[in-house]
Amino acid sequence: MAILPDDPRVSLLDFLREHLLLAGTKKGCNQGACGACTVLVDGTRVLSCLALAVQYEGRSVTTIEGLAGDDLHPLQAAFIEHDGFQCGYCTPGQICSVVGMMEELRRGSPSHVTADLASGTIALTPDEVRERLSGNLCRCGAYNGIVDAVCSTYAEAAE
Ligand code: FES
Ligand code: FES
Repeated sequence: MAILPDDPRVSLLDFLREHLLLAGTKKGCNQGACGACTVLVDGTRVLSCLALAVQYEGRSVTTIEGLAGDDLHPLQAAFIEHDGFQCGYCTPGQICSVVGMMEELRRGSPSHVTADLASGTIALTPDEVRERLSGNLCRCGAYNGIVDAVCSTYAEAAE
């Protein structure tokens, strides 16, 4: 990570937005309740408003800016295609959360709605997506489009 702030009280969210000027990560509640600030730390999803920047010295932090290459990330394109947003404020956090969620699925980490806990392979059903993204709120109510976008992007994992 880039040069850390002098003040150890600076959150990872404020560090990204105000020190590194990476404004893609959004501040919603600033208290761990909405998921708008979700980023990936070494591939694991983290609420950056609840983290201190100094905790992550030497770690790899990926924000929405880091997910797209020259083209949109496939999830970004799918969110557009499936109306997965209206105002878009929650969208960067939603997309980072999905990327982290897929890694959890790949590792075989069960959720509250996983039917077969003994199976090492977890199907990407709409219920799994809803449960695993339940920490990412959308005030515009674009949930059905978000689920469609995720399932269509990772269709092979849903089979
Ligand atoms: Fe971090 Fe809401 S801004 S969870
Ligand atoms: Fe507006 Fe989700 S698209 S809050």
